[in-house]
Amino acid sequence: MAIKFGRPIEGRSRLQPVEAKRRAGSTAELDLTTRPRRNRRAEWIRRLVREHALTTDDLIWPLFLVEGTNVRIPVDSMPGVERLSVDQAVREAERAEKLAIPAIALFPYTDPSLRDEDGSEALNPDNLVCRAIRAIKQRVPDVGIVCDVALDPYTSHGHDGLLRDGVILNDETVAVLVRQALVQAEAGCDIIAPSDMMDGRVGAIRAALDEASFADVAIMAYTAKYASAFYGPFRDAVGSAKTLMGDKRTYQMDPANAEEALREAELDIAEGADMIMVKPGMPYLDILHRIRDAFGMPTFVYQVSGEYSMIMAAAQNGWIDGEKAMMESLIGFKRAGAAGILTYFAPRAAEKLRKLE
Ligand code: PBG
Repeated sequence: MAIKFGRPIEGRSRLQPVEAKRRAGSTAELDLTTRPRRNRRAEWIRRLVREHALTTDDLIWPLFLVEGTNVRIPVDSMPGVERLSVDQAVREAERAEKLAIPAIALFPYTDPSLRDEDGSEALNPDNLVCRAIRAIKQRVPDVGIVCDVALDPYTSHGHDGLLRDGVILNDETVAVLVRQALVQAEAGCDIIAPSDMMDGRVGAIRAALDEASFADVAIMAYTAKYASAFYGPFRDAVGSAKTLMGDKRTYQMDPANAEEALREAELDIAEGADMIMVKPGMPYLDILHRIRDAFGMPTFVYQVSGEYSMIMAAAQNGWIDGEKAMMESLIGFKRAGAAGILTYFAPRAAEKLRKLE
């Protein structure tokens, strides 16, 4: 087949495929005026036409905490991730600052002896998270601190709320979450992130924060949080995998639902969320895109533990290039509309981005 280049094709809209002409009878010649590959032919031109960019400003780094001093305990199911004692978490917060990562998110591994039916350790102003917040704020005040509000690291049954006769109570749980949020705000937390999926918790927490003169403390709502198998390694890290009774499908969302995510977003925004979040990330890019499009809110995404571990495991087996897969997954979130990404890759991605600068 002869191919002619550069000749305008008459009477054809820009969007009609070259294929149309061939089907119309002209098999002898293929006219190519539109050649998308021109914009891809070298790195300089690819840079010129690039639509989205990932920077260190997009990253939130989740850290796991554990009791002790000078302790770093590897999380087996998350290669490269460790549980850190408070002093080590301070070091990582300093590293975050050096790497220009704007914020970290703190998750405690609570000693099993401190877990009880109602998760009362969540309300202890001297619990692990609160001590870490104070220590980090003292040494690195300019790194933002995000704290999860939910009871699962503290309950003996591993659920995010109060469990009575096999049922997770909603309003009673919200009352406890409000107190947990106040304890964290008191310790110096900048962003309260309710991950529990109880109804009405954003509004209740906002009202309580305002009343207690924490008007500047922001709320990042886990808005569309799905009941997902991809949280498995996280539950190992915070020690709730073994204790969790049943599953979380009576409060976390059904992976089959999308419209419902929009309704959840509407509620969280009406209740006063400053930022909203979709979680997990990669299987839910459509949700991220739709929520961001519909509301124009700062919309975050959580690349959860299982997503991290899949990439790491495949890379360690030599099945994929881990660093490329990491960067591709992160730019995918930006393309889908993420304002920022919670990711265990944060320090590695930031190091890579700095080298590219
Ligand atoms: C707990 C919480 C979970 C995650 C963040 N907060 C797990 C869960 O809901 O069971 C998951 C994060 C991850 O998998 O990386 N409320």
